[in-house]
Amino acid sequence: MTQFDFDKPVDRRAVPALKTHRIVLGDGGEQFFAAGVADMDFEVAPPIMEALRTRLDHSVFGYEAVPGGLVPALQNWLSLRHGWDVPAEQILRAPNALNSLAMAVSLFTGPGDGIIVQPPVFFDFYDIIRENHRTLVRNPLILDGGRYELDFDGFEALAAQPASKILLLCNPHNPVGRVWTRAELTRLGDICLRHGILVVSDDLHADIVYPGHTYQPFAAISPAFAKDSVTVLSPAKSFNIASCCSAFTVVPDADRRAAFQAENSRLTVNKNNAFANVAMEAAYREGKPWLEAVIRYIQGNLKLLRDRLTEMPLVNLIEPEATFLAWIDFRGLGLDPDHLHAVLRQDARWAATRGVSFGPEGAGFMRLNIACRRALLAQALDNLEDAVQHS
Ligand SMILES: Cc1ncc(COP(=O)(O)O)c(C=O)c1O
Repeated sequence: MTQFDFDKPVDRRAVPALKTHRIVLGDGGEQFFAAGVADMDFEVAPPIMEALRTRLDHSVFGYEAVPGGLVPALQNWLSLRHGWDVPAEQILRAPNALNSLAMAVSLFTGPGDGIIVQPPVFFDFYDIIRENHRTLVRNPLILDGGRYELDFDGFEALAAQPASKILLLCNPHNPVGRVWTRAELTRLGDICLRHGILVVSDDLHADIVYPGHTYQPFAAISPAFAKDSVTVLSPAKSFNIASCCSAFTVVPDADRRAAFQAENSRLTVNKNNAFANVAMEAAYREGKPWLEAVIRYIQGNLKLLRDRLTEMPLVNLIEPEATFLAWIDFRGLGLDPDHLHAVLRQDARWAATRGVSFGPEGAGFMRLNIACRRALLAQALDNLEDAVQHS
C-alpha cells in the first residue's frame, strides 16, 4: 500500500460524471462496468485538494488574472520531467485541449484543406476536421506483430499532396497506447519539413508513460521541428482534473502565436477559472508523488488484465506503452462490430468504447479504461470470461 488509497470506492454517480451518466451508458446501463470516458475513478492528489480548499475558503470569486506561478510551474514540469525547455512567451493558455486543436485547424488551413490523421485515433479528431469543413486524410497505423507502427511511406505520399496542410499527431497515441520514439518522430518530422506540413501534436497523455518508454515532445527534437509545430498539453488526464482544468498550447512560431492571440481576442476567450488555475499549479508543483503512485497502481491493473486475457485465447491485449487506456483485440471472436458490442454490453455488462469509434481500423477492437479500482476490474474480467465462453 502506498500513502494513497486507490482501492477506495468513490461513487462517481454522486455528481453528473460523464463516465457513469446515462448520456454515455444509455438506458439500462447504469450498473455496467463504466470504462468508456477517459478519466480516472481515483480521488485527486492531496496537494490539489488542499490548494482548492484554500482557494474556496477565500470566499470571493470575482475576476482574476492568471496566477504568476502557473506558467513557471508548467515550464519546470516540462523541463524536469521531459527535458523540454519551453520559453514562457511560447506558452498560450486555452480553455481545453480540443479547443486548441480546433483553433490550429481553423487558423492554419482553409476550407477543404487536408488534415492527416493516423487511425485508429481519438474520435474527436474526426469531429474537428468535419466541423471545420476540412478534408480527412487517413494514414492508418500498421499493426505488426501486436504492435502499431507508423506508415512512413504512406505518410510521405499523403504529405506530398498539395492540399495536405496539417498532421494531427497523437503522442502518446490514444487509443493504441504507443509512445512515439525520437527516431519515429524524427522521420515523421523530416517528411513534414520536406512538404511544408504543420505538426499539431496532442500530447495530453504524456505524463502517464510506463517504465521502459520515454515521451518525446516533437517540438523538442530540433528548432526546425519546433518552428512548424503546435503542441497541446494539460494536466487534465494525468491528474484526473478534467472538469477543473484548462489547457496550454505551445506555439514556437511568433506569427502563428499572434494568430492564436488574435483569435482568442476576437472570440473573447479570456476568462480565468480560479479553480482550474489553482488545481493545475498544485498538480505541476506538488503532484509528482501521487502521479508516480497512480502509474504504479495502473500498472498493477494492466498486469491483471494481461494475465486474465492470456486465459482467453481469442482475446488479445495490445500492450500499451502509455495511457490508462487498453486497446483490446477481439477479432479472434469473429464478430462484426455491432455483435461484439452487444456481447460485451449485454453479456459482460461492459460499457467500453467501440473500436470503430476510432475509425474503421478499430473493427473488432474495444478501448477499455483501466483507471479504476482493481476489484472492479477483476469483476469485469470475470464477466468478460463468462461472456466470451458463451459467445
Ligand atoms: C488525446 C486526447 N486529446 C484531448 C482530449 C480531451 O481534452 P480536453 O478535455 O482538454 O479537451 C482527450 C480526452 O479523452 C484525449 O484523449
